[in-house]
Amino acid sequence: MKHLLSIDDLGPDGIDEVLSLTDSFVEVSQRAIPKVPALRGRTVAWLFYEDSTRTRLSFEAAARRLSADTMNFSVGSSSVNKGESLRDTALTIEAMGVDAIVVRHRSAGVPWQLARWLDCSVVNAGDGWHEHPTQALLDCYTVRQHLGSLKDRKVVIVGDIKHSRVAGSDVRAFTSLGAEVVLVAPPTLLPAGVSTWPVRISHDLDAELADADVAYVLRMQLERQDEALVPSLREYTRCFGLTVERARRLPGHALIMHPGPMNRGVEIAPEVADLPRSVILEQVANGVAVRMAVLYLMLAAGRSGAQPPPVDDLVALGAEEGHANRG
Ligand code: CP
Repeated sequence: MKHLLSIDDLGPDGIDEVLSLTDSFVEVSQRAIPKVPALRGRTVAWLFYEDSTRTRLSFEAAARRLSADTMNFSVGSSSVNKGESLRDTALTIEAMGVDAIVVRHRSAGVPWQLARWLDCSVVNAGDGWHEHPTQALLDCYTVRQHLGSLKDRKVVIVGDIKHSRVAGSDVRAFTSLGAEVVLVAPPTLLPAGVSTWPVRISHDLDAELADADVAYVLRMQLERQDEALVPSLREYTRCFGLTVERARRLPGHALIMHPGPMNRGVEIAPEVADLPRSVILEQVANGVAVRMAVLYLMLAAGRSGAQPPPVDDLVALGAEEGHANRG
């Protein structure tokens, strides 16, 4: 795997491979010293043109737990403010000797453009309204942890689908693993072309909950809306919010998920976000291990292109070194 730009780069077998590898890195993450030497000598840089808490910090934790070096880039304090272009900025960072660039940008397609310009690996950490593949991978992992598999599961994705790159990648990932996906939103919050997506569309959240396996709630992305797409937030919550009463309609085993950040009281009631069946913080925790798996698959082969060492050997080696450090 040279790049991870879209969840389509992986396909169902590739997703399975990442999720299986994630099991090993979950185990590493639970150790007293959560570190393995898998990516010693490799360097990963962040190129975030948009704000992030979860994705940026978890990629950073993932790289450090794999013993990679990291290079931080903050747009706000960089020469971007002096007018340096995206291409020149990326080439400059690559010239310092990086093996992978993790990029988030407000414009769809930027990761693909970088992959054409650069020799190093590129990971899409969210491009505009388009894709967020590592979010989809951690979501698949979290569902699999609780429900065993996505096959024949009903996943209800409710909210601002139009502006959601998470929806774009989750629909691809969930359906490729065999789930039935129902998108629930007012017509104004559905993207153009959604009729070609492999999903069912509904405008009635109440009708979809009783047999759902997952209620996946999306944030109202008010910062991306330049027109009034709903009459009011109060009206939106009344019709499409996951309220306490609606959460009670879910079957006992059903999960409540949200990619974060949440608008508590808008798309999800505060009490619902904190229910035991809400796995929002587990999604965050799994994000580190999933991103370790992605970086490992991308970079462990070494610059020569040799086969990566078996992950079990590295995980065992990390455990021995951890004991040595503690001793
Ligand atoms: N889910 C997600 O992408 O969150 P951040 O914007 O905080 O990275």
